[in-house]
Amino acid sequence: MRICLLIGGRGSNACAIIKAIKCGELKAECVGVISHKRDAMGIEHVRALGVPVVIVDNRDYDNKPSFEGDLLQQILALDVDVIALAGFMRILSADFINELQNKVILNIHPSLLPKYPGLNTHQRVIDAGDKVHGATVHHVIAACDQGPIVMQAQIPVLGHESSYDLEERLLPVEHQLYIDALSHIQQTMFPKPNNNNIAGG
Ligand code: GRF
Repeated sequence: MRICLLIGGRGSNACAIIKAIKCGELKAECVGVISHKRDAMGIEHVRALGVPVVIVDNRDYDNKPSFEGDLLQQILALDVDVIALAGFMRILSADFINELQNKVILNIHPSLLPKYPGLNTHQRVIDAGDKVHGATVHHVIAACDQGPIVMQAQIPVLGHESSYDLEERLLPVEHQLYIDALSHIQQTMFPKPNNNNIAGG
């Protein structure tokens, strides 16, 4: 299973996935990472793990179709089975997703979808007085944060916790969830092993 990771921030999910591939926990090849921000913190972390990063910065484009056109070309050039969004903060158009309909596109979202699509999920969980929080890996469709769910993980919400604390406590759970969800996709859809990979075996 050949995967590429799309990032836009600190890249902690991307690095966790790459490390899981390197240690054999996830049977996949990570053939590249694409960042939609040239100054994303995650770029250097990913490169330090030996995975090439391509930058397609949305701020360099006048409109979404031209940004998505270049992004699509970069993804197609990598010849991947799975595109995993990890902190990629752009909403992808239906046309873009249709162009990749023979591939699996996944995203991780920091809430128990269908609750709390969109931003500021941790604060919204606290404000609502929820007793549990969590994360979701789902297939990407044109509607934001609404594709079919692959896997979820839960954590309890503790009293007197800031949204920052809650986010920090959820993050390692997200990392393992994304690895487990990708393993599930690999086992069910791409069971053939690969060995000629850049990151891992
Ligand atoms: C994660 O919380 C993920 O759920 C959300 O964006 C954040 C990305 O974090 N989609 P990182 O860049 O992987 O550290």
